[in-house]
Amino acid sequence: MLGRVEILTTVAAAQSQAKSKPRVLVPTMGALHKAHGELTKVARERAGADGEVAVSIFVNPLQFEPRSDYERYPRPEKADEDFCRDAGVDLLFRPSIEEMYFDDRSTFVEEISLSSVLEGKSRPGHFRGVCTVVAKLFNVLTPDAAVFGEKDFQQLAIVRRMVRDLNFNIDIIAVPTVREEDGLACSSRNQYLNLEERKQATVLHKALLAAANASEKSARDIVDLARKMIGAAPLAQIDYVELVDAETLQPVEMVRPNSLLALAVFFGKTRLIDNILLA
Ligand code: PAF
Repeated sequence: MLGRVEILTTVAAAQSQAKSKPRVLVPTMGALHKAHGELTKVARERAGADGEVAVSIFVNPLQFEPRSDYERYPRPEKADEDFCRDAGVDLLFRPSIEEMYFDDRSTFVEEISLSSVLEGKSRPGHFRGVCTVVAKLFNVLTPDAAVFGEKDFQQLAIVRRMVRDLNFNIDIIAVPTVREEDGLACSSRNQYLNLEERKQATVLHKALLAAANASEKSARDIVDLARKMIGAAPLAQIDYVELVDAETLQPVEMVRPNSLLALAVFFGKTRLIDNILLA
């Protein structure tokens, strides 16, 4: 049976609503899938039966580079609404661009250290867009906690840093990456892959697992091993494969406790990211 989800589309409506229960937010860009199901499940566990699970759906133009996939990003409104009902979400915040951004906006939130590497290097301005929208969602919806997936490991680290630096009184909860049966990390972008790309994309998780189980411990060997495996998939175009410290996200030369192997790889026009903690 489908539950009742309250849908709010304006900032004014969200801000005028007196919050009487603990609220846990799952910020998303929609096109909800299995991994979002896991995020909302964790949100419910945290909120408890009497608390409130809120999901935001907003395809945030600020975090897409010009000429990227902003326009073609999937926006299945009805399916997302049904998904929220099925998942027992209490509140769905789905604002328009005009609601979220003034034409003459001139204030942004920018984290400048963790954002300078990996995704931040490949996608300049991306994390400024993420931090700005997440800070706005935190201000509008005033959650007590918010849930983020570890697939976007760098995003999670940056949001934690922003929350610390700007004194948001919000707990950030991390959820392990949810995978398809063949290991591919769940992502809204997977639906862009054609059959052959989808098949070959399974190499990403295989390469991460091989690196995690390798006896080699130098960054160069580990990265080489992963690059070779991925390179054997003819449609894969590697953007980066890097071994970094999971706390600082700075490159490390040897695997040590809390090292992260992170990668971004194109299959056709679709850019996929994934990561694994080593040791
Ligand atoms: O991970 C995402 O879906 C987005 O980056 C987020 C956190 C909803 C901000 O737009």
